[in-house]
Amino acid sequence: MTTIRPVPASARARERVVVTDVALRDGRQNQPCYVATAGKAAFLRALAAAGVSSVEAASFVSPKAVPQMADAAEVMAEALALAPLRASALAPNLKGLERAIAAGTREIAVVLSCTDTMNLKNINMSLAEASRVSCETLRAAKARGLTTRGYLAVAFECPFEGATPAERVLELGRVLLDAGADEIVVADTIGAAGPAGVQQLLRRLMPHLPIDRLGLHLHDTRGMGVANAYAGLELGIRRFDASVGGLGGCPFAPGASGNVATEDLVLMLEQSGYSTGISLPGLAAAADLAEELLGRPLGGHCMPWLRRQLGASAQRASVDATAGSTSR
Ligand code: COA
Ligand code: ZN
Repeated sequence: MTTIRPVPASARARERVVVTDVALRDGRQNQPCYVATAGKAAFLRALAAAGVSSVEAASFVSPKAVPQMADAAEVMAEALALAPLRASALAPNLKGLERAIAAGTREIAVVLSCTDTMNLKNINMSLAEASRVSCETLRAAKARGLTTRGYLAVAFECPFEGATPAERVLELGRVLLDAGADEIVVADTIGAAGPAGVQQLLRRLMPHLPIDRLGLHLHDTRGMGVANAYAGLELGIRRFDASVGGLGGCPFAPGASGNVATEDLVLMLEQSGYSTGISLPGLAAAADLAEELLGRPLGGHCMPWLRRQLGASAQRASVDATAGSTSR
């Protein structure tokens, strides 16, 4: 029987990969059901206990647009209390940035979609306007000493405009980098990419955007999330977003389903010999809690297997304990 322990790795193989759990931001914004701040705080504690070192905890967007984020400041305070856990927040404009800073946030992200229509649907701005506002927000954040991430949404395909030209992704990536993005996250917002497409786009970007400042944000709509992450890993990407239980999806992007599940990604990375610092049993506990909070079944592709493994080892432990007590 396979075990949930990572495969023993060679010296090269224990290279560190940073996984940022975005369940509370990307995973919460499209949920019809309300989760109380206390529930979000408990979920953050479960992530930290699992060894997750980086989370995107909230977004400081208009609560009229995304009511689930009305408690962003409170959730951020809970996340910051879990330091050294790194907690970032999305800020779409200067107002969002000010709210984020007032809540103590030291890491922010802006989301620039690579097409006009997606920007209009998501933040009510044209691509040119969204680019200007994203840059203004990044510059202001850098001036205040914050760490910054620039997301390039619908970098592969837009639900409204179809395939996104790689040249445009490159151009916008440069724009965000010049404006002060410490990291550029290439996002497959609707989960339309395949591994070959991921490598093709990355090969176009890599000569101009430093690989150690590039990350991937992959949705798992067609079950390609892990394969796409591996494609990025092969080219040197060491930063990935994911969400426990595969939560996520943009309410403004039709057809988008959840992110690649953190547990699937971590299992793949550890089995491939990389180190994430994250425990799979810990992720299973976080997914159980998320299920409880949302009242529906969750979990990435590996979760049924993982739960069976954990059940079997709990059973073994109880048999061992019983054997121990009878032999005494
Ligand atoms: N936080 C809170 N309120 C904000 C805000 C922010 N970051 N930015 C703007 N607002 C408020 C304005 O003050 C204004 O309030 P009022 O109606 O009480 O005067 C209202 O929101 C509308 O502001 P306006 O500048 O006209 O923006 P808009 O209506 O065109 O909306 C966004 C622009 C970006 C604020 C809005 O579309 C948004 O928050 N979208 C969220 C998108 C999202 O989260 N997508 C998923 C993640 S990628
Ligand atoms: Zn997303």
